[in-house]
Formats: sequence, C-alpha cells, structure tokens
Amino acid sequence: MHKKLNLKIFDIISKVSDEMQQESFVIGGYVRDIFLNRPSKDIDVVTLGSGIELAKAVAKNLNPEPRVNVFKNFGTAMLKYKTFEIEFVGARKESYQINSRKPSVENGTLEDDQNRRDFTINAMALGLNAANFGQLVDPFNGIEDISKKIIRTPLNPSLTFSDDPLRMMRAIRFSTQLGFEIELKTLQAIAANKNRIKIVSEERIIDELNKIIMAPKPSSGFHILEETGLLEIIFPELSHLKGIETVNGITHKDNFRHTLEVIDRIAPNTDNLWLRWSALLHDIAKPSTKKFIEGQGWTFHSHNFAGMKMIPKIFGRMKMPMNEKMKFVQKMVLLHMRPIVLSEEEITDSAIRRLLFDAGNDIDDLMILCEADITSKNQSKVNSYLGNFKIVRQKLKEIETKDAIRNFQPPVSGGLIMETFNLPPCREVGLIKDAIKEAILEGEIHNNFEDAYSLMLKKAKEFGIEKKN
Ligand code: CTP
Repeated sequence: MHKKLNLKIFDIISKVSDEMQQESFVIGGYVRDIFLNRPSKDIDVVTLGSGIELAKAVAKNLNPEPRVNVFKNFGTAMLKYKTFEIEFVGARKESYQINSRKPSVENGTLEDDQNRRDFTINAMALGLNAANFGQLVDPFNGIEDISKKIIRTPLNPSLTFSDDPLRMMRAIRFSTQLGFEIELKTLQAIAANKNRIKIVSEERIIDELNKIIMAPKPSSGFHILEETGLLEIIFPELSHLKGIETVNGITHKDNFRHTLEVIDRIAPNTDNLWLRWSALLHDIAKPSTKKFIEGQGWTFHSHNFAGMKMIPKIFGRMKMPMNEKMKFVQKMVLLHMRPIVLSEEEITDSAIRRLLFDAGNDIDDLMILCEADITSKNQSKVNSYLGNFKIVRQKLKEIETKDAIRNFQPPVSGGLIMETFNLPPCREVGLIKDAIKEAILEGEIHNNFEDAYSLMLKKAKEFGIEKKN
C-alpha cells in the first residue's frame, strides 16, 4: 500500500501531522480510486484536530507556498498541489435536520467520520502518520464490496439517505459508472425515501444525472431511477415514455426501452454530453402525439416538432444551459427522422442538399443519432437501413465537395440585390433570395456567384424590376 501513497505531498502531510501530534488519514474517493485503479484528482484528508491548522502548516512546507482557502463555517481548508485539490477537515460527527442538507457539526473520532459517509467503498481511510503510514482503516469492509462490486451504505440506508438525499442519486451514479450492483436493502431504501430528493437542488441532481448519461452504459442507471420511483419525480417526461398499448391487436413499442437502447447505442460513438441528451430526448413527445388511426395503426405525427418545443421547459426546470447547447439538442430532436425518411426513399441529390442545408455543421452528429435510433428487432430491416445510411453518408460527402451547402451563405446577398435594382428593403428582395436558394438546393443552378447573379437578373425581370444604370 505504501507504493500507492507515492505522491510527495503524503510524506509532507505525514511529517507535519507527526510534528503537530495529530492523527491524519486520506479518506473517501481517493482511497476508493486507488483500489479501483482509477485516476482521481481530489484528495480528502481527515485529521483528529483542526483541518485548517494542518492545511496551513502543510502549505508552509511546500515550495512555492500555495494559497490556503479557508472555509471557516465548514471547518475546512483547501490547497492546490500540482493538479490535485487537497481538502483538509477535522474528523466530524454530524447530524442532519429534516428539511435541509446542511448538517450541524461536532468534533468526532475517525470512526464517527467514517460512519457519516455515504457508501462503504467511500468510507475507507489510509493512515498518514509515520506509525501507520499506508495502513487501511476499513470498518465496513469496503474492500470486499469493491471486489464483489457492491454499493452499500455503512449505516442503515434509510438514515444515510434521509441525512443527505443526494446520496440516492450518487448510489445510482456510482453503480452506473462502475458497473456495480446496489445492495437490495440499499435499493429498497432509495424507493422508500424517494420523496426526500425534493430538498436537493436541481443543479446537484443534474450533476449526477449527467454523470449517468456519460457512463458507458447509461441505461442501467435509468432503469434503477425508474424502478425506485426517482425518475417520475426528477424527470417525469422521460418516465411517461414507459408502457405499451394495444388496439385491434396492434401494439406500439415501449418508447422508454427504445430510448434507453438508443442512448446505449450512441454512448460508444460520442463523448458529447449534448448529443447523448439528444438521444435521451429524441422521442420525448411520443406520448403526447400518440394516436391510433384505423387502417394506419399507431402514429406519432410531428413528435419531432412537438419534442423540440418541449425542450426549453425541461431545460429550464432542470437548470440546464438555455443557450446554444439547448438549441443544438432542439435541432437534433427536430431533425432526427430526416436521414431515416430519406433512406427509405430514392436518395436524390436535392434531398441530400436540403438535409445539409438544415443540419449545417451538425450533420455528422445527426447521422450518429440516426444510426443509434435504428433498434428494430428485425435484423434484415436494420441491415437495410444501415446499408442505405452508407449511401446517404457517401452522397453527403459527394454533394458537400461539389456544392458546399454545409454552411450555406447566399452567393448573392440581399444588399447586392437592393443595390443592383435601387430597391429599398422589400418583399421582392426576399423572394429573389429565396428563389436563388431553392434553385441551388434543387440543383437547377450551381452554388456560385455567376449562376446566382444571372438567376437574380432573370427573377427581377419576371417581377418587372429594372436594373439601374
Ligand atoms: N460524501 C458523502 N456524501 C455525499 C458526498 C460525499 O458521504 N453526499 C463523502 C464520500 O466519502 C466521498 C467523499 O465525501 O467519497 C468525497 O466526495 P466527492 O468528492 O463528492 O465524491 P467522490 O467520492 O470523490 O467521487 P467523484 O469525484 O466521482 O464525485
């Protein structure tokens, strides 16, 4: 274990703690990640005494001496060492109030401090004094839970979750990130305490949700959120995708399962959080647009459009960015069926140009989403779609090299039209610009100045507009 505490900073904390005659330990995530062989960037040090004094003394032993940020109210201090943030805190005994996540704090022993932590795998400590340097203090057998891949609370889970309900999200997040199972009693306690999540801020919840979304297999987290009833509280729109209905013997697919399949399928192909969010939301309006039509079966007309419209409300409530990131998700949701529809028909150049025009630089992301969206159980159907997608991709490349539609800029500007014909801003200027764009997308003229200029002259003539001399 000594080898694992091989950063020089640990020797310094060790020396300073001995000088102060204070027992100190590394605790929590850093210790867990040593045993999981994961990199980690934050180091938590707990000491039987003042964390603030220890931090100051450690800083004095470093060259150059780093700044110590003191959080008096919490009795903690933080300093930066290389890429690490090291937090020092005195061992605490905490009790929580029923309506708040803010604990009242008293000094305590190492054991008190370990008792109040969220999971057994996060409650392990390594000694830092010379007498016990690198020795593991693991009262809840976190080591065994790591080897068995189990998430479990040190104390009665209801107490742990009721103390800090964010931990319910953390349990699901760790389970999803690490591929661990949540122990049954712990899982049941999440279901029983689900309503306590309401005292947690949206920002904290979203932090955890985003980590679930970025995990290698996000569906496992969403299944647990759903089973425990948390999903209905934090993300009702997603939970409403669940279920199937049958009319006249015709059943539609379960859109919750489908959505989770799509997000799992997209995960290996993108690290873009917002593209993964697009996968999560692509069918979000299916429940509200669902209709059974005799002779046609189940329809979800314009669910892409309705879905795009739902997004600002969801993002606003969840305190997510309402900027270009949200607009990107809206665009993906709106366009998510376009390449599929396209690949069902004869793939014409003009359809490809229109897709490029509408998707612009996001075309590659849109194609990734569309490929992930093909989840049919019928393998020959899947193969035929994927085959057509290859053609779509190929054509996209060809047309793009030929016509440069991706970031379409009108080759003849409104300004030039007004100047040429001595026109004020008016309807005709817009009509001429539109006619040029349409002709380019239809492939009637090339995307260049000469073609566009002569079409402008022709259209102006049709409108009875004279060129000024
Ligand atoms: N902790 C806790 N309850 C919480 C948050 C944190 O008991 N709601 C404890 C755990 O012992 C945890 C440690 O504080 O290991 C540090 O928390 P944090 O830095 O938030 O998370 P890590 O466990 O380090 O994991 P990650 O960096 O992946 O969030």
